[in-house]
Amino acid sequence: SDINYLLKMALEKVAFLPFGYLVDQWRWGVFSGRTPPSRYNFDWWYLRTKYQGICPPVVRNETHFDAGAKFHVPHVTPYIRYFVSFVLQFQFHQALCKEAGHQGPLHGCDIYQSTKAGDKLRKVLRAGSSQPWQDILKDMIGSDTLDAQPLLNYFQPVSQWLQEQNQKNKEVLGWPEYQWQPPMPDDYPEDIALVTDEAEASKFVEEYDQISQVVWNEYAEANWNYNTNITSEASKILLQKNVQMANHTLKYGTRAKRFDVTYFQNTTMKRIIHKIQDLERAALPVKELEEYNQILLDMETTYSVASVCHSNGTCLQLEPGSMLFPLHSLYRHFLLESVDQLFLVPFLLPHWPVLLTFSSLKELTLDTQ
Ligand SMILES: *[C@@H]1O[C@H](CO)[C@@H](O)[C@H](O)[C@H]1NC(C)=O
Ligand SMILES: *[C@@H]1O[C@H](CO)[C@@H](O)[C@H](O)[C@H]1NC(C)=O
Ligand SMILES: *[C@@H]1O[C@H](CO)[C@@H](O)[C@H](O)[C@H]1NC(C)=O
Ligand SMILES: *[C@@H]1O[C@H](CO)[C@@H](O)[C@H](O)[C@H]1NC(C)=O
Ligand SMILES: *[C@@H]1O[C@H](CO)[C@@H](O)[C@H](O)[C@H]1NC(C)=O
Repeated sequence: SDINYLLKMALEKVAFLPFGYLVDQWRWGVFSGRTPPSRYNFDWWYLRTKYQGICPPVVRNETHFDAGAKFHVPHVTPYIRYFVSFVLQFQFHQALCKEAGHQGPLHGCDIYQSTKAGDKLRKVLRAGSSQPWQDILKDMIGSDTLDAQPLLNYFQPVSQWLQEQNQKNKEVLGWPEYQWQPPMPDDYPEDIALVTDEAEASKFVEEYDQISQVVWNEYAEANWNYNTNITSEASKILLQKNVQMANHTLKYGTRAKRFDVTYFQNTTMKRIIHKIQDLERAALPVKELEEYNQILLDMETTYSVASVCHSNGTCLQLEPGSMLFPLHSLYRHFLLESVDQLFLVPFLLPHWPVLLTFSSLKELTLDTQ
């Protein structure tokens, strides 16, 4: 019977949360211009599906204004307050139960007839708007921030029960996994299934960073070897590292595209993920990418390899060893003398991607000594 009771409460208190969260998300999008009038309905249903897992029963388009059916929208009443209150009330409840000396699971607590809990509640209510709410909250529950933990505590038994049922019945969780699509306008966003979990994104960025250091370093070394010793062997290796880089960019770029960073708090991570999502030339089909890399390499080689021409028109290619002298010894010299002036390197090595990290460059420099 606890489960029945908690299920009923969850229908009231938990099922509401995604809706409480999305109404003002939509409205803030409208106010900021991120949701233009041409997407009012479209973005409304995007959020409804993303957070609530529901979709319109019939095709909707921009001639409809479904957000307007929620009273608070045309009435210009803020909505996030409901979301906040649903979280906060469990913080209140937990604090009052503690005051009443309740023992055992939170959902079994009843503060009825507890004068201690009543006094505490009276004190909070009596403050009205005389003090900042954070101060009152701190006084009451010992913390001045919103915290979903008491809510989670309250529903813990039913949450565990549901997890067990899901496992037992092999339920598929969430809605993105379902193949079924509601009838939607052609231009309905495809990214309903995008990941909005910031912690997951953080893990992803960390992994990306680690792998990238290895891949980029190998590429930088191959590039260095080729630039300082132009041989077909080195060019083969460089081309292969080029493909490896593109594979890497494609793999992580594709994974990065699964994230919807719109509401991420960490702006640095937002920026990094946007950057990783940009596939650049790695988006080319394999054949075209190979061609592209070959063209780049050829241009680079033409630029690096000098030939000496006689007045009768016969040109002679210099041997790699000697022909490398003017340009590449300058590179070496410069790098050896000026590791602390790395900012100039891109000017001297215009075709080098600016991905040499300080440490990899130093290593390379030492190698050539
Ligand atoms: C919008 O949908 C309605 C059906 O609900 C349809 O009659 C109308 O032609 C649609 N308008 C546009 C611009 O697609
Ligand atoms: C240049 O590369 C060739 C073959 O890749 C190698 O045998 C040779 O030792 C290299 N020369 C220098 C100076 O590194
Ligand atoms: C790049 O990816 C292709 C296709 O997945 C694969 O065949 C190839 O071996 C990869 N190349 C490198 C250098 O990783
Ligand atoms: C934001 O994300 C970046 C990159 O993942 C990370 O280095 C940084 O510590 C994060 N900042 C905060 C405040 O979590
Ligand atoms: C061009 O001149 C050079 C040096 O005078 C000579 O070695 C070479 O054979 C000449 N080439 C032709 C095609 O006459």
